[in-house]
Amino acid sequence: MRTQVGIVGAGPAGLLLGHLLHLNGIDSVIVENRDREYVVDRVRAGVLEQGTVDLMRAIGVAAGLDRRGLRHDGVYVSFDGRRHRIDMAELTGGKAITVYGQNEVVRDLIDARIATTRPLYFEAQDVEVGAIDSAAPTIRFRHGDTAHEVRCDVIAGCDGFHGVCRPSIPAGVLAIYERTYPFGWLGILAEAAPSSEELVYTYHDRGFALFSMRSPAITRLYLQVPPDESIERWSDDRIWNEMLTRMTASDGWRPNVGRIVQKGVTPMRSFVAAPMRHGRLFLAGDAAHIVPPTGAKGLNLAASDVLVLARALKAFYESGSAEWLDRYSEICLRRVWKAQRFSWWMTTLLHKLPDETPFDHQRRIADLDYLTSSRAAMTSLAEQYVGLPSEVTFESAGLLH
Ligand code: FAD
Ligand code: PHB
Repeated sequence: MRTQVGIVGAGPAGLLLGHLLHLNGIDSVIVENRDREYVVDRVRAGVLEQGTVDLMRAIGVAAGLDRRGLRHDGVYVSFDGRRHRIDMAELTGGKAITVYGQNEVVRDLIDARIATTRPLYFEAQDVEVGAIDSAAPTIRFRHGDTAHEVRCDVIAGCDGFHGVCRPSIPAGVLAIYERTYPFGWLGILAEAAPSSEELVYTYHDRGFALFSMRSPAITRLYLQVPPDESIERWSDDRIWNEMLTRMTASDGWRPNVGRIVQKGVTPMRSFVAAPMRHGRLFLAGDAAHIVPPTGAKGLNLAASDVLVLARALKAFYESGSAEWLDRYSEICLRRVWKAQRFSWWMTTLLHKLPDETPFDHQRRIADLDYLTSSRAAMTSLAEQYVGLPSEVTFESAGLLH
């Protein structure tokens, strides 16, 4: 097979890139190693920045988002039993976030891809990328009994943190910046109507807790737990006890309890590989960087990376200029590092460290008090939470829709 852009991975990054390229007349093949049901059912992120929502609308994949997405103008930060609302829309000139599950985003993007009739292989086995230093890199894989080779101009490595693209870059090329945290998140989906219209980030002496949602009937909740915690140790009763202990506010607010329909533990990590490119291989999304989920940035960074990549590929095919491709990594990393910093800050502000001293505790309470009482501090959180501007926007990119 021959294509212009070979895309490894059908997560948000790969699928969004494929659609942006399609709209601009650029050919692609998407190769995914999991099956379609697995990709669509995987429960992950839920918060879309304003820019991600705008991008999905601009490229015509927002029908589900517009119908079922929940726009949130504010967010709560809770500590010492009191919830404090930060009015993001008022502080950012009308910007907001939208709660719409990542699996819904992926489902809608797969439907859009299939409607274009451009190739998307699920259940590809033994995926490998090769000749990335040359002008004709390849993706090899098996599909059923058939061995395939896709010859490409460029490969987009959108295969997540555990994919094959980043490890195929020769040793010594990438600088790795990494931090792990001494905790993880236990997350649940519950059949319970959300008891707040907006998210609640809680700091409690027993650790962090987060109230979120997926729909008017489904609540999504998270608890700080040890990093290698086994989910087997958490019966549904124990989960609800801990959730209610940490989240119940002095005014009586608490999450509604319901049947738990999904639960799992996620480790937390900050990670950046730089540059996000080697030869004709470009890394995007989790393949290049991971943020702890406290800032709700992972999916949004994947979207902003591929917008920059699509813009660069359009310039490459229209004028033969590699100038934008050469700037790809630098443009993405500026935004990535700011999201890294924000995610690290939200994480350290709201989680309890195992070796915390009474000084650390008082300083943290003062931090939270400042954050929730200073307009400047609230504005800083709000503008980062709704998403900082990117050098490349859909309009400035001149992309077609
Ligand atoms: P992915 O979504 O990981 O997509 C990569 C795709 O590549 C996958 O479909 C994978 O199956 C495929 N792939 C992997 N290896 C290969 C291969 N060898 N060949 C072909 N295909 C391959 N972010 C938040 O903001 N909030 C959250 O609550 C949150 N929770 C998360 C929970 C978990 C368990 C994980 C792993 C991530 C979570 N994230 C969260 C982060 C967010 O989901 C990611 O940032 C987002 O999925 C990035 O999109 P992506 O397309 O770059 O990568
Ligand atoms: C979610 O709804 O899954 C969610 C919300 C906010 C976060 C992380 C995850 O910071």
